[in-house]
Amino acid sequence: MRREQNFSLLKYNTFGIDVNCREFFEYEELDELMDFVSSGALVGKRWMHIGGGSNLLFLSDFDGVVLHSQMNQMAIVDQGDISISVGSGVVWDDFVDFCVANHFAGVENLSLIPGEVGASAVQNIGAYGVEAKDVILRVTALNVEDGKIYKFSNEECCFGYRDSFFKHHPEYIIINVNFLLKKESDYQYNISYGNLQKALQPGEALSLASIRNAIINVRNSKLPDPKEIGSAGSFFKNPIVDRAVYEALVKDYPKMPFYELPDEKVKIPAGWLIEQCGWKGKQVGNAGVYEKQALVLVNRGGANGAEVWHLAEQIVASVREKFNISISPEVCVVK
Ligand code: EPU
Repeated sequence: MRREQNFSLLKYNTFGIDVNCREFFEYEELDELMDFVSSGALVGKRWMHIGGGSNLLFLSDFDGVVLHSQMNQMAIVDQGDISISVGSGVVWDDFVDFCVANHFAGVENLSLIPGEVGASAVQNIGAYGVEAKDVILRVTALNVEDGKIYKFSNEECCFGYRDSFFKHHPEYIIINVNFLLKKESDYQYNISYGNLQKALQPGEALSLASIRNAIINVRNSKLPDPKEIGSAGSFFKNPIVDRAVYEALVKDYPKMPFYELPDEKVKIPAGWLIEQCGWKGKQVGNAGVYEKQALVLVNRGGANGAEVWHLAEQIVASVREKFNISISPEVCVVK
């Protein structure tokens, strides 16, 4: 357990923004968290719970309490169905690595996504045609208002594209996520998405390990390593538009990539829209648009949150002007 005052969050956000919070509380056990909450430590204060800080942009110091879980337990609950109970503080990719090594299938496409297990359920993380919701059986959370523990079924989590019940109900702190996976021997690999097939080594047998390897290679080639360049992965969500909007646009831009969705909706990659507006590789002050993936904003060194946000606002305005489409942040912007 760790409790600090005026604590620097520099190491707790992958954008590398140097801000302080008024108070910081990190816990290893549920009891520690429950005692902290029931002591009234959050009453009347602004507070937030962070995960790996890989999806956050702080615009200024946080005048309140920041909580962080170090609950790192991982246990196989049922070998038959492969149900695994994972503490909220487990590093997401350590969990994926564990699953792949044990031939538990379902999360390999989510390899190398930064962040922690608790946040994976808040954000419904996704990549290469798979989302966390596809493998989450149950989420256990503490409601800080009544101090009670609640269990949410997959349906009760109300998952959507980078969205969940928990995103709209910050009074629930996720303490544990139960995943339901398959045995590799009973599993149909999911490699249909985008360029994943091309990334697999020619001639190599398909396996969880080879898919994980291919995804690690693609991600490393397109996304900056947060240890070297500050970023929060995709900065914007891919906008979802009506089919009619897409059809009108594709007449002018026949090469525009898209993904068909149910209910006459189409998802358009924001990275493509941003690149078309000429932003790829551009730098404004200490903030920039990553040269290999226009959806990623980067800290070129010493950027503050306001600088990154200023760049983001300019990008939103130019996408709106050129395409009449509003793009919105995927990262959580803390004002
Ligand atoms: N594109 C461009 N220019 C760019 C970037 C992309 O034209 O600078 C085009 C690509 O050519 C491709 C399309 O946009 O046709 C989609 O690009 P990509 O496959 O790289 O994926 P994405 O839509 O940009 C999403 C997720 C990523 C996830 C990848 C792979 C969102 C907001 N992002 O990105 O998730 O890893 O798909 O599945 O949905 C994240 O959430 O932080 C994240 C990295």
